[in-house]
Amino acid sequence: MGTTLVIIPTYNEAENIEPIVARVRSAVPEAHVLVADDNSPDGTGKIADKLAAEDDHVQVLHRKGKEGLGAAYLAGFRWGIEHGYGVLVEMDADGSHQPEELPRLLTALKNADLVLGSRWVPGGRVVNWPKFREFISRGGSTYSRLLLDLPLRDITGGYRAFRRETLEGLGMDDVASQGYCFQVDLAWRAMKAGFHVVEVPITFVERERGDSKMSRDILAEALWRVTSWGVGTRVNRVLHRKPDQGR
Ligand code: GDD
Ligand code: MN
Repeated sequence: MGTTLVIIPTYNEAENIEPIVARVRSAVPEAHVLVADDNSPDGTGKIADKLAAEDDHVQVLHRKGKEGLGAAYLAGFRWGIEHGYGVLVEMDADGSHQPEELPRLLTALKNADLVLGSRWVPGGRVVNWPKFREFISRGGSTYSRLLLDLPLRDITGGYRAFRRETLEGLGMDDVASQGYCFQVDLAWRAMKAGFHVVEVPITFVERERGDSKMSRDILAEALWRVTSWGVGTRVNRVLHRKPDQGR
């Protein structure tokens, strides 16, 4: 499948970046790491530079300012594809996605085009997550599943492994999603493009250090985008229905 690049987007993760990179390096020593930092005011980018100077498997992509998770991942994917990586992995910096589970995702990718780490399939779970976050996440996945007709349980999750061909084939260039709905966007595009998407159970552990970047704006963006995708698809289906259909 080619070399794996683990992309870790960061915004104010100074206390988390060093431990997460160390865990990735020891769990999957052959993989490379790309930290995609949005010029974090807390100096995360500088710490990442230090890690990169000490280890030729670690690189840093410095971005000019906070532009959202979606933009950071798109830049990271493009960088990885340009540099010839065969597998691109999404992973949060805060330890919620355990690097020790990555070998299972990569094994599943041998028979898939995209692997989703999933909290909401049998065997998946969350540890220390506030009830209201669980409610939003489950609700968001259910809403997206119904509206977009997706047979997936965890559509918003951010622990994923893509084959490069999947990213090249799903139409990255017109992705406008900025916040966490980026995850829904990409899963939906991959399914529409006919790629084989597989969910594997993960244990999601709530962060111990630093703050979540979840906000009302991120929720609102997800709600209006998913709703407009779902409604748009239905309207198109009706408009393009042949006269002899639907009986
Ligand atoms: N570069 C960059 N720019 N990184 C960002 C930005 C941004 O604007 N916003 C968030 N991040 C990074 C964080 O630093 C962290 O590494 C990762 O993205 C996830 O952010 P969190 O703030 O920890 O997310 P969460 O724990 O609230 O949300 C989790 O659940 C969501 C819903 O299921 C994550 O797993 C998300 O990926 C997931 O969509
Ligand atoms: Mn988190």
